[in-house]
Amino acid sequence: MPTKRDTGSALDRDAVNGPEPLLAVRDLEVHFALQGNFVQRLLSRETGTVKAVDGVSFDVQPGEVLAVVGESGSGKTTLGRALTGLVATSDGSIRYRGQEVADMSDRSFRPLRRKIQMVFQDPHASLNPAMDLETALAHPLRIHGVADRAETHRLVRDALERVGLSPVERFLGKLPGDLSGGQKQRAVIARAIILGPDLLVADEPVSMLDMSVRAKILQLMLDLKRDLDLTYVYITHDLATAKFFCDRVAIMYLGRVVEIGPTSQIFADPKHPYTRALLAAIPDPDPERSLPTDLPRGEIPDAAEPPSGCAFHPRCPAAFDRCGWEGRDLRSLLESHWLTVDEEVYERERAVVGTLDELSAPGATARISPQGGHSVTDVRSVLDRVRAADPDEPFWSGVTSIDDDGSAVTVHFAAGEDPALRTSGGVEVACLLYEPEGQGQDTR
Ligand SMILES: Nc1ncnc2c1ncn2[C@@H]1O[C@H](COP(=O)(O)OP(=O)(O)O)[C@@H](O)[C@H]1O
Ligand code: SF4
Ligand SMILES: [Mg+2]
Repeated sequence: MPTKRDTGSALDRDAVNGPEPLLAVRDLEVHFALQGNFVQRLLSRETGTVKAVDGVSFDVQPGEVLAVVGESGSGKTTLGRALTGLVATSDGSIRYRGQEVADMSDRSFRPLRRKIQMVFQDPHASLNPAMDLETALAHPLRIHGVADRAETHRLVRDALERVGLSPVERFLGKLPGDLSGGQKQRAVIARAIILGPDLLVADEPVSMLDMSVRAKILQLMLDLKRDLDLTYVYITHDLATAKFFCDRVAIMYLGRVVEIGPTSQIFADPKHPYTRALLAAIPDPDPERSLPTDLPRGEIPDAAEPPSGCAFHPRCPAAFDRCGWEGRDLRSLLESHWLTVDEEVYERERAVVGTLDELSAPGATARISPQGGHSVTDVRSVLDRVRAADPDEPFWSGVTSIDDDGSAVTVHFAAGEDPALRTSGGVEVACLLYEPEGQGQDTR
């Protein structure tokens, strides 16, 4: 196989660095089976697996705010749901104050669930439209059976007061439909703090709100953190808000953490090429604008069929020979080449190489059979022209040789590696440009 995962992980399974973390996540995986269409389901054939969270490790210290940043589809929500027990984990460990919570049955997790609460992205969908605020806030207290009538009465009022929905008497009887977006999110936050949690996992809590109220809600969260000794995992696709809101930042890409470290360091000296691209995409003068996803070299790939080697390699401007090149990359290269040539050239080259279906096969080699009376020499000429058009394209660094047996051309790729997190200059980064510390210099 062309891909191996290196073992230079910086987070040792039982590493003890400093005080006991509030949350210790190790090698966490959440997989979803893709069930396919009705007939495939009927035959109970799985059609694949999405590794939404694929081996994530990090600690969260008490009182800390950890940002989890990544594009849509990178696994942020699934990670948050796993931390709060809302989705079953497939592998790995989540320890809360040293106690394993990943593999607990729902019932035994319940007392701990009070301590770890989630604030969802869409405040509207998080509130029952038929429930007034007093009932909605009392609901978790009832479920957990933790307060009598008088205590419930007091706690509901206190929570509303704390989130700024006051005078409280005016809000108790309101339905979600009576509230603005910002007020709804305040109500959701009130419901999340009412059980006295230690940790809030906030999943893009302001991304669906008007610009004008975003800063106010974030300030509210900071005030609550200070007053109630909270710890946050703050999920966002917006690296700009993470800058002032968070102590540390974890950058996610296709189910993995690719860089994690103190916010100041990540902003001053981003190491992973993906982090650099995200930072470069922040429009500086307006820190409130969310980050555009038009990173170089295309879209985030399908999580059900991640690229081999380093999953970022098809988009990485710094990619080199060991990054995991494969037939699919040649296919993308030919397809983007055809977008730049005349119709007539496209027709001619397409007639030589055909539909390129052979290039979808994984592996360290890629075959192209000449079509309809063409020869292997014609195929080689197409490849030569593509290379000549952009000789600096990182793809070619991964091609070790091209040969043919008279009936097909075979492109051979350098062996790819799947980089694990390694410590480099005070952060942890999953990129082959950085050697694990103690194993030589980084090669930037
Ligand atoms: N319940 C599910 N069933 C199947 N696939 C899922 C499910 N939830 C999420 N996914 C997939 O997992 C990946 C990560 O999704 P998600 O955690 O929502 O990412 P993010 O919050 O970063 O946008 C995506 O490819 C998504 O399609
Ligand atoms: S290992 Fe580093 S250089 Fe290679 S593709 Fe991944 S991020 Fe880019
Ligand atoms: Mg999400």
